Amino acid sequence: MQSSQAPARPANAPARNVVVVGTQWGDEGKGKVVDWLTDHAAAVVRFQGGHNAGHTLVINGKKTALQLIPSGIMREGVACYIGNGVVVDPTHLLSEIERLEAAGLNVRSRLFISESCPLILPFHVEVDKAREALRETSGSGKIGTTGKGIGPAYEDKVARRALRVQDLKHPDRFAKKLRELLDLHNFALVGYLKGTALEFQPIFDQAMKAAEQILPMLADVGVQIHGHNVAGGSVLFEGAQGTLLDIDHGTYPYVTSSNCVAGNAAAGSGVGPDKLHYILGITKAYTTRVGSGPFPTELDWETPDTVGYHLSTVGQERGTVTGRARRCGWLDAAALKRSVLINGISGLCITKLDVLDGLKEINVCTGYLLNGQRVDILPLDADEIVACEPIYETFPGWEGTTFGITEWDKLPANARAYLERVQAFIGAPIDMVSTGPDRDHTILLRHPYKG
Ligand code: GDP
Ligand code: IMO
Ligand code: MG
Repeated sequence: MQSSQAPARPANAPARNVVVVGTQWGDEGKGKVVDWLTDHAAAVVRFQGGHNAGHTLVINGKKTALQLIPSGIMREGVACYIGNGVVVDPTHLLSEIERLEAAGLNVRSRLFISESCPLILPFHVEVDKAREALRETSGSGKIGTTGKGIGPAYEDKVARRALRVQDLKHPDRFAKKLRELLDLHNFALVGYLKGTALEFQPIFDQAMKAAEQILPMLADVGVQIHGHNVAGGSVLFEGAQGTLLDIDHGTYPYVTSSNCVAGNAAAGSGVGPDKLHYILGITKAYTTRVGSGPFPTELDWETPDTVGYHLSTVGQERGTVTGRARRCGWLDAAALKRSVLINGISGLCITKLDVLDGLKEINVCTGYLLNGQRVDILPLDADEIVACEPIYETFPGWEGTTFGITEWDKLPANARAYLERVQAFIGAPIDMVSTGPDRDHTILLRHPYKG
Protein backbone atom coordinates (compact mmCIF):
# COMPACT_ATOMS: atom_id res chain seq x y z
CA MET A 1 0.00 0.00 0.00
CA GLN A 2 1.26 3.45 -0.87
CA SER A 3 1.25 5.96 1.94
CA SER A 4 0.55 9.67 1.75
CA GLN A 5 4.14 10.12 3.02
CA ALA A 6 5.63 8.59 -0.14
CA PRO A 7 7.78 10.97 -2.21
CA ALA A 8 5.90 12.83 -4.93
CA ARG A 9 6.73 12.09 -8.55
CA PRO A 10 8.57 14.80 -10.46
CA ALA A 11 6.44 17.66 -11.70
CA ASN A 12 6.76 16.44 -15.28
CA ALA A 13 4.88 13.20 -14.48
CA PRO A 14 1.92 14.17 -12.31
CA ALA A 15 -0.66 11.60 -11.33
CA ARG A 16 -3.63 11.65 -13.64
CA ASN A 17 -7.00 10.15 -12.77
CA VAL A 18 -9.44 8.80 -15.34
CA VAL A 19 -13.17 8.22 -14.88
CA VAL A 20 -14.83 5.58 -17.06
CA VAL A 21 -18.60 5.94 -17.46
CA GLY A 22 -21.28 4.35 -19.62
CA THR A 23 -23.00 6.86 -21.91
CA GLN A 24 -26.04 4.72 -22.77
CA TRP A 25 -28.18 2.24 -20.79
CA GLY A 26 -25.26 0.17 -19.46
CA ASP A 27 -23.36 -2.80 -20.89
CA GLU A 28 -21.34 -0.60 -23.23
CA GLY A 29 -18.16 -2.56 -22.57
CA LYS A 30 -16.88 -0.58 -19.55
CA GLY A 31 -15.22 -3.63 -17.95
CA LYS A 32 -13.15 -4.39 -21.02
CA VAL A 33 -11.93 -0.81 -21.32
CA VAL A 34 -11.22 -0.44 -17.59
CA ASP A 35 -9.12 -3.59 -17.74
CA TRP A 36 -7.25 -2.28 -20.80
CA LEU A 37 -6.46 0.99 -19.02
CA THR A 38 -5.33 -0.52 -15.73
CA ASP A 39 -1.78 -1.05 -16.91
CA HIS A 40 -1.49 2.71 -16.27
CA ALA A 41 -3.31 2.73 -12.92
CA ALA A 42 -2.15 2.13 -9.38
CA ALA A 43 -5.75 1.69 -8.23
CA VAL A 44 -9.29 1.14 -9.53
CA VAL A 45 -12.31 2.48 -7.64
CA ARG A 46 -16.01 1.63 -7.88
CA PHE A 47 -18.08 4.63 -6.74
CA GLN A 48 -21.76 3.72 -7.22
CA GLY A 49 -24.15 0.88 -7.91
CA GLY A 50 -23.70 -2.58 -6.53
CA HIS A 51 -23.76 -6.13 -7.82
CA ASN A 52 -26.44 -5.16 -10.35
CA ALA A 53 -23.42 -4.40 -12.56
CA GLY A 54 -21.95 -7.10 -14.78
CA HIS A 55 -18.58 -6.21 -16.30
CA THR A 56 -17.06 -8.76 -18.64
CA LEU A 57 -13.33 -8.99 -19.29
CA VAL A 58 -11.69 -11.24 -21.82
CA ILE A 59 -7.97 -11.79 -21.33
CA ASN A 60 -6.17 -14.10 -23.75
CA GLY A 61 -9.52 -15.64 -24.65
CA LYS A 62 -10.52 -16.29 -21.02
CA LYS A 63 -13.73 -14.62 -19.85
CA THR A 64 -14.29 -13.23 -16.34
CA ALA A 65 -17.48 -11.50 -15.19
CA LEU A 66 -17.25 -9.04 -12.29
CA GLN A 67 -20.19 -7.51 -10.45
CA LEU A 68 -19.01 -5.71 -7.31
CA ILE A 69 -15.25 -6.07 -7.40
CA PRO A 70 -13.44 -3.47 -9.52
CA SER A 71 -12.11 -4.69 -12.86
CA GLY A 72 -8.55 -3.80 -11.75
CA ILE A 73 -8.49 -7.07 -9.84
CA MET A 74 -7.36 -8.84 -13.01
CA ARG A 75 -3.99 -7.02 -12.96
CA GLU A 76 -1.45 -8.02 -10.35
CA GLY A 77 -0.35 -5.11 -8.19
CA VAL A 78 -3.38 -2.88 -8.84
CA ALA A 79 -5.25 -1.90 -5.65
CA CYS A 80 -9.05 -2.12 -5.82
CA TYR A 81 -11.43 0.07 -3.82
CA ILE A 82 -15.15 -0.10 -3.16
CA GLY A 83 -16.10 3.50 -2.40
CA ASN A 84 -18.79 4.83 -0.07
CA GLY A 85 -21.27 5.33 -2.95
CA VAL A 86 -21.52 1.57 -3.56
CA VAL A 87 -24.20 -0.57 -1.88
CA VAL A 88 -22.63 -3.81 -0.62
CA ASP A 89 -24.31 -7.17 -0.19
CA PRO A 90 -21.88 -8.90 2.21
CA THR A 91 -22.89 -12.41 1.19
CA HIS A 92 -22.52 -11.62 -2.48
CA LEU A 93 -19.19 -9.89 -1.88
CA LEU A 94 -17.73 -12.96 -0.26
CA SER A 95 -19.03 -15.29 -2.94
CA GLU A 96 -17.50 -13.08 -5.65
CA ILE A 97 -14.18 -13.04 -3.80
CA GLU A 98 -14.24 -16.82 -3.47
CA ARG A 99 -15.04 -17.25 -7.16
CA LEU A 100 -12.02 -15.14 -8.11
CA GLU A 101 -9.80 -16.91 -5.59
CA ALA A 102 -10.86 -20.26 -7.06
CA ALA A 103 -9.57 -18.92 -10.40
CA GLY A 104 -6.19 -18.30 -8.76
CA LEU A 105 -6.40 -14.56 -8.03
CA ASN A 106 -5.09 -12.95 -4.91
CA VAL A 107 -8.03 -10.75 -3.91
CA ARG A 108 -8.04 -10.04 -0.17
CA SER A 109 -4.62 -8.38 -0.08
CA ARG A 110 -5.66 -5.91 -2.83
CA LEU A 111 -9.33 -5.19 -2.11
CA PHE A 112 -10.30 -2.31 0.19
CA ILE A 113 -13.83 -1.40 1.23
CA SER A 114 -15.18 1.88 2.58
CA GLU A 115 -16.77 1.50 5.99
CA SER A 116 -19.43 4.02 4.90
CA CYS A 117 -20.97 1.73 2.27
CA PRO A 118 -24.64 0.96 2.99
CA LEU A 119 -25.39 -2.76 3.27
CA ILE A 120 -27.80 -4.71 1.11
CA LEU A 121 -29.53 -7.24 3.39
CA PRO A 122 -31.97 -10.06 2.55
CA PHE A 123 -35.10 -7.94 3.13
CA HIS A 124 -33.94 -5.47 0.46
CA VAL A 125 -33.96 -8.28 -2.07
CA GLU A 126 -37.43 -9.40 -0.94
CA VAL A 127 -38.80 -5.86 -1.14
CA ASP A 128 -37.24 -5.33 -4.59
CA LYS A 129 -38.84 -8.50 -5.97
CA ALA A 130 -42.20 -8.02 -4.24
CA ARG A 131 -42.44 -4.44 -5.51
CA GLU A 132 -41.75 -5.51 -9.05
CA ALA A 133 -44.48 -8.17 -8.75
CA LEU A 134 -46.91 -5.57 -7.39
CA ARG A 135 -46.11 -3.09 -10.15
CA GLU A 136 -46.85 -5.82 -12.67
CA THR A 137 -50.21 -6.86 -11.19
CA SER A 138 -51.30 -3.27 -10.52
CA GLY A 139 -50.71 -2.39 -14.16
CA SER A 140 -48.09 0.31 -13.52
CA GLY A 141 -45.47 -1.87 -15.21
CA LYS A 142 -42.24 -3.40 -13.96
CA ILE A 143 -39.00 -1.42 -13.92
CA GLY A 144 -37.28 -4.67 -14.82
CA THR A 145 -34.75 -4.42 -11.96
CA THR A 146 -32.00 -6.96 -11.49
CA GLY A 147 -33.72 -8.09 -8.26
CA LYS A 148 -30.56 -7.56 -6.21
CA GLY A 149 -32.11 -5.18 -3.65
CA ILE A 150 -30.33 -2.13 -5.04
CA GLY A 151 -33.26 0.34 -4.96
CA PRO A 152 -34.46 -0.51 -1.42
CA ALA A 153 -30.89 -0.32 -0.08
CA TYR A 154 -30.37 3.17 -1.53
CA GLU A 155 -33.77 4.21 -0.13
CA ASP A 156 -32.61 3.27 3.38
CA LYS A 157 -29.39 5.22 2.83
CA VAL A 158 -31.23 8.38 1.85
CA ALA A 159 -33.73 7.89 4.68
CA ARG A 160 -30.75 7.83 7.11
CA ARG A 161 -31.63 4.44 8.55
CA ALA A 162 -29.27 2.17 6.58
CA LEU A 163 -26.98 -0.35 8.20
CA ARG A 164 -23.50 0.41 6.97
CA VAL A 165 -20.35 -1.67 6.68
CA GLN A 166 -19.04 0.13 9.80
CA ASP A 167 -21.94 -1.28 11.84
CA LEU A 168 -20.43 -4.75 11.31
CA LYS A 169 -17.71 -3.67 13.76
CA HIS A 170 -20.24 -3.30 16.57
CA PRO A 171 -22.50 -6.36 17.00
CA ASP A 172 -24.77 -4.73 19.61
CA ARG A 173 -25.26 -1.59 17.54
CA PHE A 174 -25.82 -3.75 14.46
CA ALA A 175 -28.47 -5.84 16.25
CA LYS A 176 -30.36 -2.78 17.49
CA LYS A 177 -30.43 -1.09 14.11
CA LEU A 178 -31.28 -4.34 12.34
CA ARG A 179 -34.29 -4.98 14.61
CA GLU A 180 -35.73 -1.53 13.84
CA LEU A 181 -35.08 -1.75 10.11
CA LEU A 182 -36.40 -5.27 9.83
CA ASP A 183 -39.60 -4.25 11.65
CA LEU A 184 -40.16 -1.52 9.12
CA HIS A 185 -39.52 -3.74 6.10
CA ASN A 186 -41.57 -6.64 7.48
CA PHE A 187 -44.46 -4.23 8.01
CA ALA A 188 -44.30 -3.23 4.34
CA LEU A 189 -43.59 -6.76 3.12
CA VAL A 190 -46.57 -8.32 4.86
CA GLY A 191 -49.05 -5.46 5.02
CA TYR A 192 -48.52 -3.85 1.64
CA LEU A 193 -46.53 -6.12 -0.62
CA LYS A 194 -48.33 -9.34 0.39
CA GLY A 195 -45.03 -11.09 1.03
CA THR A 196 -43.63 -13.05 3.97
CA ALA A 197 -41.89 -11.56 7.01
CA LEU A 198 -38.20 -12.35 7.47
CA GLU A 199 -36.68 -13.46 10.78
CA PHE A 200 -34.07 -11.48 12.65
CA GLN A 201 -31.69 -14.23 13.78
CA PRO A 202 -30.61 -15.77 10.43
CA ILE A 203 -29.94 -12.29 8.99
CA PHE A 204 -27.95 -11.27 12.05
CA ASP A 205 -25.95 -14.52 12.16
CA GLN A 206 -25.13 -14.38 8.45
CA ALA A 207 -23.99 -10.76 8.71
CA MET A 208 -21.77 -11.43 11.73
CA LYS A 209 -20.21 -14.41 9.98
CA ALA A 210 -19.49 -12.27 6.92
CA ALA A 211 -18.11 -9.51 9.18
CA GLU A 212 -15.18 -11.70 10.25
CA GLN A 213 -13.97 -11.79 6.65
CA ILE A 214 -14.96 -8.28 5.61
CA LEU A 215 -13.56 -6.22 8.49
CA PRO A 216 -9.89 -6.88 7.61
CA MET A 217 -10.56 -5.27 4.20
CA LEU A 218 -11.90 -1.93 5.51
CA ALA A 219 -10.05 1.22 4.52
CA ASP A 220 -10.45 4.99 4.47
CA VAL A 221 -10.92 5.04 0.71
CA GLY A 222 -10.73 8.80 0.05
CA VAL A 223 -7.50 9.08 2.03
CA GLN A 224 -5.98 6.07 0.29
CA ILE A 225 -6.79 7.45 -3.17
CA HIS A 226 -5.18 10.72 -2.16
CA GLY A 227 -2.14 8.70 -1.02
CA HIS A 228 -1.83 7.03 -4.43
CA ASN A 229 -1.90 10.41 -6.15
CA VAL A 230 0.63 11.95 -3.81
CA ALA A 231 2.92 9.03 -4.50
CA GLY A 232 2.53 9.66 -8.24
CA GLY A 233 0.15 6.77 -8.86
CA SER A 234 -2.79 7.33 -11.20
CA VAL A 235 -6.28 6.15 -10.30
CA LEU A 236 -9.13 4.85 -12.42
CA PHE A 237 -12.75 5.37 -11.36
CA GLU A 238 -14.94 2.58 -12.77
CA GLY A 239 -18.55 3.57 -13.39
CA ALA A 240 -21.36 1.05 -13.38
CA GLN A 241 -24.65 1.18 -15.31
CA GLY A 242 -24.91 4.13 -17.70
CA THR A 243 -25.91 7.78 -17.92
CA LEU A 244 -29.42 7.04 -19.21
CA LEU A 245 -29.98 4.85 -16.12
CA ASP A 246 -28.89 7.65 -13.75
CA ILE A 247 -31.43 8.35 -10.98
CA ASP A 248 -31.56 12.08 -11.83
CA HIS A 249 -30.61 12.28 -15.48
CA GLY A 250 -31.90 8.98 -16.85
CA THR A 251 -35.26 7.88 -18.22
CA TYR A 252 -36.96 8.11 -14.81
CA PRO A 253 -38.54 6.01 -13.32
CA TYR A 254 -36.97 3.35 -15.58
CA VAL A 255 -33.55 3.86 -14.06
CA THR A 256 -31.32 2.49 -11.34
CA SER A 257 -31.14 4.12 -7.90
CA SER A 258 -27.72 5.79 -8.01
CA ASN A 259 -26.02 8.61 -9.89
CA CYS A 260 -24.05 6.90 -12.65
CA VAL A 261 -22.61 10.12 -14.08
CA ALA A 262 -18.95 11.09 -13.84
CA GLY A 263 -19.52 13.77 -11.19
CA ASN A 264 -20.45 11.07 -8.70
CA ALA A 265 -16.97 9.55 -8.95
CA ALA A 266 -15.93 12.27 -6.49
CA ALA A 267 -18.82 12.05 -4.01
CA GLY A 268 -19.00 8.26 -4.26
CA SER A 269 -15.37 7.69 -3.35
CA GLY A 270 -14.41 10.62 -1.13
CA VAL A 271 -12.19 12.75 -3.39
CA GLY A 272 -12.61 16.29 -4.66
CA PRO A 273 -13.94 16.92 -8.20
CA ASP A 274 -10.57 18.51 -9.06
CA LYS A 275 -9.15 14.96 -8.95
CA LEU A 276 -11.20 13.84 -11.98
CA HIS A 277 -8.82 14.75 -14.78
CA TYR A 278 -10.19 12.94 -17.81
CA ILE A 279 -13.68 11.49 -18.37
CA LEU A 280 -13.84 8.56 -20.80
CA GLY A 281 -17.34 7.83 -22.08
CA ILE A 282 -17.94 4.27 -23.24
CA THR A 283 -20.36 4.04 -26.15
CA LYS A 284 -21.50 0.94 -27.97
CA ALA A 285 -21.64 1.42 -31.76
CA TYR A 286 -25.37 0.64 -31.47
CA THR A 287 -27.72 0.72 -28.47
CA THR A 288 -28.95 -1.89 -26.01
CA ARG A 289 -31.14 -1.78 -22.94
CA VAL A 290 -32.09 -4.44 -20.36
CA GLY A 291 -35.36 -4.04 -18.50
CA SER A 292 -38.28 -1.73 -19.22
CA GLY A 293 -38.40 1.90 -20.29
CA PRO A 294 -38.42 4.06 -23.41
CA PHE A 295 -35.90 3.31 -26.16
CA PRO A 296 -36.59 5.41 -29.31
CA THR A 297 -34.21 3.56 -31.66
CA GLU A 298 -35.23 0.04 -30.60
CA LEU A 299 -35.54 -2.44 -33.45
CA ASP A 300 -37.31 -5.76 -33.69
CA TRP A 301 -34.48 -7.89 -32.32
CA GLU A 302 -36.36 -11.19 -32.07
CA THR A 303 -37.20 -11.93 -35.70
CA PRO A 304 -34.47 -13.75 -37.66
CA ASP A 305 -32.99 -11.97 -40.69
CA THR A 306 -33.59 -8.50 -39.28
CA VAL A 307 -30.96 -5.91 -38.35
CA GLY A 308 -32.09 -6.06 -34.71
CA TYR A 309 -31.61 -9.82 -34.68
CA HIS A 310 -28.14 -9.35 -36.19
CA LEU A 311 -27.18 -6.95 -33.37
CA SER A 312 -28.64 -9.25 -30.73
CA THR A 313 -26.99 -12.44 -31.97
CA VAL A 314 -23.66 -11.20 -33.37
CA GLY A 315 -23.31 -8.87 -30.35
CA GLN A 316 -24.31 -11.73 -28.00
CA GLU A 317 -26.57 -9.30 -26.21
CA ARG A 318 -27.60 -11.24 -23.14
CA GLY A 319 -27.30 -9.80 -19.62
CA THR A 320 -24.27 -10.83 -17.57
CA VAL A 321 -26.15 -10.62 -14.24
CA THR A 322 -29.66 -11.86 -15.01
CA GLY A 323 -29.20 -13.67 -18.33
CA ARG A 324 -32.03 -11.60 -19.82
CA ALA A 325 -31.95 -10.76 -23.54
CA ARG A 326 -30.93 -7.14 -24.08
CA ARG A 327 -33.20 -5.05 -26.31
CA CYS A 328 -31.26 -3.78 -29.35
CA GLY A 329 -31.44 -0.78 -31.68
CA TRP A 330 -29.50 1.78 -33.68
CA LEU A 331 -27.01 4.21 -32.16
CA ASP A 332 -28.85 7.19 -30.67
CA ALA A 333 -26.53 10.15 -31.15
CA ALA A 334 -29.17 12.60 -29.90
CA ALA A 335 -29.21 10.76 -26.56
CA LEU A 336 -25.40 10.72 -26.56
CA LYS A 337 -25.40 14.49 -26.94
CA ARG A 338 -27.03 14.70 -23.51
CA SER A 339 -24.60 12.15 -22.02
CA VAL A 340 -21.63 14.13 -23.30
CA LEU A 341 -22.96 17.29 -21.63
CA ILE A 342 -23.86 15.72 -18.28
CA ASN A 343 -20.60 13.82 -17.87
CA GLY A 344 -18.24 16.44 -19.25
CA ILE A 345 -16.81 13.80 -21.56
CA SER A 346 -13.14 14.32 -22.48
CA GLY A 347 -13.12 11.50 -25.01
CA LEU A 348 -15.13 8.51 -26.14
CA CYS A 349 -14.34 4.86 -26.64
CA ILE A 350 -16.65 3.35 -29.26
CA THR A 351 -17.05 -0.36 -28.57
CA LYS A 352 -18.36 -3.34 -30.52
CA LEU A 353 -17.73 -1.72 -33.92
CA ASP A 354 -17.15 -5.26 -35.24
CA VAL A 355 -20.79 -6.13 -34.55
CA LEU A 356 -21.79 -3.76 -37.39
CA ASP A 357 -19.64 -5.76 -39.87
CA GLY A 358 -21.79 -7.19 -42.66
CA LEU A 359 -24.67 -4.70 -42.41
CA LYS A 360 -25.56 -3.09 -45.78
CA GLU A 361 -26.63 0.18 -44.23
CA ILE A 362 -26.14 1.69 -40.80
CA ASN A 363 -28.51 4.21 -39.22
CA VAL A 364 -27.69 6.80 -36.60
CA CYS A 365 -30.42 8.76 -34.83
CA THR A 366 -29.62 12.50 -34.94
CA GLY A 367 -32.87 13.85 -33.49
CA TYR A 368 -36.54 13.11 -33.03
CA LEU A 369 -39.93 14.27 -34.15
CA LEU A 370 -41.90 15.09 -31.03
CA ASN A 371 -45.48 16.33 -31.52
CA GLY A 372 -44.54 17.47 -35.04
CA GLN A 373 -41.46 19.43 -33.88
CA ARG A 374 -37.83 18.44 -34.42
CA VAL A 375 -35.76 18.06 -31.24
CA ASP A 376 -32.01 17.45 -31.31
CA ILE A 377 -31.40 16.11 -27.83
CA LEU A 378 -33.09 13.38 -25.78
CA PRO A 379 -35.99 14.91 -23.80
CA LEU A 380 -36.03 14.62 -20.00
CA ASP A 381 -39.57 13.28 -19.58
CA ALA A 382 -39.94 9.52 -20.15
CA ASP A 383 -43.46 9.96 -21.60
CA GLU A 384 -42.09 12.45 -24.13
CA ILE A 385 -39.31 10.01 -25.01
CA VAL A 386 -41.95 7.36 -25.70
CA ALA A 387 -43.60 9.80 -28.13
CA CYS A 388 -40.31 10.54 -29.93
CA GLU A 389 -39.93 9.30 -33.49
CA PRO A 390 -36.25 8.95 -34.35
CA ILE A 391 -34.82 10.81 -37.34
CA TYR A 392 -32.01 8.82 -38.94
CA GLU A 393 -28.94 9.56 -40.99
CA THR A 394 -28.01 6.52 -43.09
CA PHE A 395 -24.47 5.37 -43.82
CA PRO A 396 -23.26 2.65 -46.17
CA GLY A 397 -21.89 -0.42 -44.42
CA TRP A 398 -18.44 -1.83 -45.20
CA GLU A 399 -16.91 -4.90 -46.78
CA GLY A 400 -14.81 -7.29 -44.74
CA THR A 401 -14.29 -7.44 -41.02
CA THR A 402 -13.14 -4.97 -38.40
CA PHE A 403 -12.82 -7.70 -35.76
CA GLY A 404 -9.60 -7.42 -33.81
CA ILE A 405 -8.19 -4.49 -35.82
CA THR A 406 -5.74 -2.45 -33.72
CA GLU A 407 -4.94 0.47 -36.06
CA TRP A 408 -7.26 3.25 -37.21
CA ASP A 409 -5.82 3.27 -40.74
CA LYS A 410 -6.62 -0.41 -41.18
CA LEU A 411 -10.36 0.17 -40.63
CA PRO A 412 -12.48 0.16 -43.81
CA ALA A 413 -12.99 3.72 -45.15
CA ASN A 414 -16.76 3.51 -44.55
CA ALA A 415 -16.22 2.54 -40.91
CA ARG A 416 -13.94 5.54 -40.42
CA ALA A 417 -16.47 7.84 -42.14
CA TYR A 418 -19.23 6.54 -39.86
CA LEU A 419 -17.17 7.16 -36.72
CA GLU A 420 -16.04 10.60 -37.89
CA ARG A 421 -19.63 11.68 -38.52
CA VAL A 422 -20.76 10.43 -35.10
CA GLN A 423 -17.88 12.30 -33.48
CA ALA A 424 -18.75 15.54 -35.26
CA PHE A 425 -22.43 15.24 -34.42
CA ILE A 426 -22.10 14.61 -30.70
CA GLY A 427 -19.20 17.03 -30.22
CA ALA A 428 -16.77 14.78 -28.36
CA PRO A 429 -13.57 13.22 -29.74
CA ILE A 430 -13.33 9.48 -30.27
CA ASP A 431 -10.10 8.56 -28.49
CA MET A 432 -10.44 4.78 -28.59
CA VAL A 433 -12.27 2.13 -30.62
CA SER A 434 -12.89 -1.43 -29.48
CA THR A 435 -13.08 -4.08 -32.20
CA GLY A 436 -13.50 -7.24 -30.15
CA PRO A 437 -13.99 -8.46 -26.57
CA ASP A 438 -10.35 -9.23 -25.86
CA ARG A 439 -8.05 -6.81 -24.05
CA ASP A 440 -5.95 -6.51 -27.20
CA HIS A 441 -8.78 -5.80 -29.67
CA THR A 442 -8.36 -2.08 -29.22
CA ILE A 443 -7.49 0.95 -31.39
CA LEU A 444 -5.90 3.84 -29.53
CA LEU A 445 -6.07 7.37 -30.91
CA ARG A 446 -5.33 9.40 -27.79
CA HIS A 447 -4.39 7.77 -24.51
CA PRO A 448 -6.60 8.88 -21.60
CA TYR A 449 -3.61 8.69 -19.26
CA LYS A 450 -1.23 10.54 -21.56
CA GLY A 451 -3.44 13.28 -22.98
P1 GDP B 1 -20.18 -3.42 -19.19
O1 GDP B 1 -21.29 -3.70 -18.23
O2 GDP B 1 -20.24 -2.02 -19.73
O3 GDP B 1 -18.83 -3.75 -18.64
O4 GDP B 1 -20.42 -4.37 -20.44
P2 GDP B 1 -20.78 -5.95 -20.38
O5 GDP B 1 -19.55 -6.68 -20.01
O6 GDP B 1 -22.01 -6.17 -19.60
O7 GDP B 1 -21.18 -6.20 -21.88
C1 GDP B 1 -20.30 -5.97 -22.95
C2 GDP B 1 -20.09 -7.30 -23.70
O8 GDP B 1 -19.49 -7.04 -24.93
C3 GDP B 1 -19.17 -8.28 -22.97
O9 GDP B 1 -19.58 -9.58 -23.25
C4 GDP B 1 -17.81 -7.96 -23.58
O10 GDP B 1 -16.93 -9.10 -23.53
C5 GDP B 1 -18.20 -7.66 -24.99
N1 GDP B 1 -17.35 -6.69 -25.69
C6 GDP B 1 -16.71 -5.58 -25.19
N2 GDP B 1 -16.13 -4.89 -26.18
C7 GDP B 1 -16.38 -5.57 -27.33
C8 GDP B 1 -16.08 -5.33 -28.71
O11 GDP B 1 -15.47 -4.33 -29.08
N3 GDP B 1 -16.55 -6.24 -29.62
C9 GDP B 1 -17.25 -7.34 -29.25
N4 GDP B 1 -17.67 -8.17 -30.19
N5 GDP B 1 -17.56 -7.59 -27.97
C10 GDP B 1 -17.14 -6.71 -27.03
P1 IMO C 1 -23.54 -2.51 -16.03
O1 IMO C 1 -22.63 -1.89 -15.02
C1 IMO C 1 -27.49 -2.64 -17.81
C2 IMO C 1 -30.89 -1.84 -15.18
C3 IMO C 1 -31.86 -2.98 -14.88
C4 IMO C 1 -33.16 -2.19 -14.74
C5 IMO C 1 -32.70 -0.91 -14.06
C6 IMO C 1 -32.91 -0.90 -12.54
O2 IMO C 1 -23.26 -3.94 -16.31
O3 IMO C 1 -23.64 -1.67 -17.26
P2 IMO C 1 -31.64 -2.10 -10.54
O4 IMO C 1 -31.48 -3.57 -10.23
O5 IMO C 1 -30.35 -1.37 -10.72
O6 IMO C 1 -32.56 -1.41 -9.59
O7 IMO C 1 -32.39 -2.10 -11.98
O8 IMO C 1 -31.32 -0.77 -14.34
N1 IMO C 1 -29.48 -2.12 -14.88
C7 IMO C 1 -28.54 -2.34 -15.80
N2 IMO C 1 -28.64 -2.44 -17.15
N3 IMO C 1 -26.29 -2.72 -17.23
C8 IMO C 1 -26.17 -2.59 -15.88
O9 IMO C 1 -24.96 -2.52 -15.27
C9 IMO C 1 -27.33 -2.43 -15.11
N4 IMO C 1 -27.56 -2.30 -13.78
C10 IMO C 1 -28.89 -2.09 -13.65
O10 IMO C 1 -31.90 -3.90 -15.92
O11 IMO C 1 -33.65 -1.83 -16.01
MG1 MG D 1 -22.80 -5.11 -17.93
